[in-house]
Amino acid sequence: MEKIKYDLVARKEPVKIPKNLGFGKYFTDHVFEMDYSNEKGWHNPTIKKLENLSIHPGSMYFHYGQGVFEGLKAFKTDAGEVVIFRPEKHIQRLNNSARRVCIPEVDNEFLHYALSELISIERDWIPTEKGESLYIRPFIFGSDSFLGVKPSSNYKLIILLSPVGAYYPEGFKPVKILVQDEYVRAVRKGLGECKTPANYAASLLAGEEARKKGFTQVLWLDGIEQKYIEEVGTMNIFIKFKNEVVTPKLNGSILPGVTRDSVITILKDWGINITERLVTIDEVVTEYKNGNVDGVFGTGTAAIISSVGWLNFKGFEMTFNNGEPGDLDKKLFDEITSIHYGQIEDRHNWLTHVEVKEIEV
Ligand code: COI
Repeated sequence: MEKIKYDLVARKEPVKIPKNLGFGKYFTDHVFEMDYSNEKGWHNPTIKKLENLSIHPGSMYFHYGQGVFEGLKAFKTDAGEVVIFRPEKHIQRLNNSARRVCIPEVDNEFLHYALSELISIERDWIPTEKGESLYIRPFIFGSDSFLGVKPSSNYKLIILLSPVGAYYPEGFKPVKILVQDEYVRAVRKGLGECKTPANYAASLLAGEEARKKGFTQVLWLDGIEQKYIEEVGTMNIFIKFKNEVVTPKLNGSILPGVTRDSVITILKDWGINITERLVTIDEVVTEYKNGNVDGVFGTGTAAIISSVGWLNFKGFEMTFNNGEPGDLDKKLFDEITSIHYGQIEDRHNWLTHVEVKEIEV
């Protein structure tokens, strides 16, 4: 792979990170970009000023949605080191998603290197309050201008950075979720396990209808029987039954969340009985009525750990922990964020340290 070209802009003033970051509203000064052609493979890796793209309106991505993306996070630890949380797992998932929609894979190590270089340059944009981070959004899209349906021959990969706080408008307070039984998000053997824009487009109408009824998001049921709980779209879901914490097992239509995987590992470390299995919505309702559901929470890179205060299925409202965060959710949020900021031992080597370099402008 060629060397990265640096086309940087000098900062006139020190970076000022806005307060009340929310999610995805602000962007840093630079992006990483790289191109693909069938002849040259991935080439032209460049870190440059963030600017609008100039794209032909016939670009295949606009018409047929051939694209994939990832979401991962960088932190500044209390000791001032710059770290990325589980980048290799995210890069692997990006390539898994890419394969499914015929996008050429990217060299894992090179992408990791490119991420680190960009983050090193933009390190002053990393916020440091608990729950805040620099969100990293790599994405790839087909860029041929052609209107027939086929895989593109040219692609662009971009890494965008955004300083973020809480994902949901509720902040880190419990969210209100509507179980969705009208529409489906994905079916097994479809695209559900990929991070491809189509899944998010498929979720918008249900999300909007739920929001109008006062819910934060929807919980999707399986696409075939609409019986088994799957995921929220912006996060995976965990149910805390009396003697067992359960999360739906990965079946091809659920996104294999990196935070989901981290939470399963932490719960096992703590000796908590965590099971990945099929869970019907009827089981949740029945066990709730029997007093056997202690709480529900979601996990995601953007959402971190988000308590679910209310879950509504066909008008039957289940309330957990009186709408306050559950003890286990709080403990998990604390554990994960303490790992992020280097406040406790990183016992599973989830943090990758970024070598901070001065690059001349
Ligand atoms: C993430 O958790 O990183 C996601 O990608 C979810 C959403 C922001 C699309």
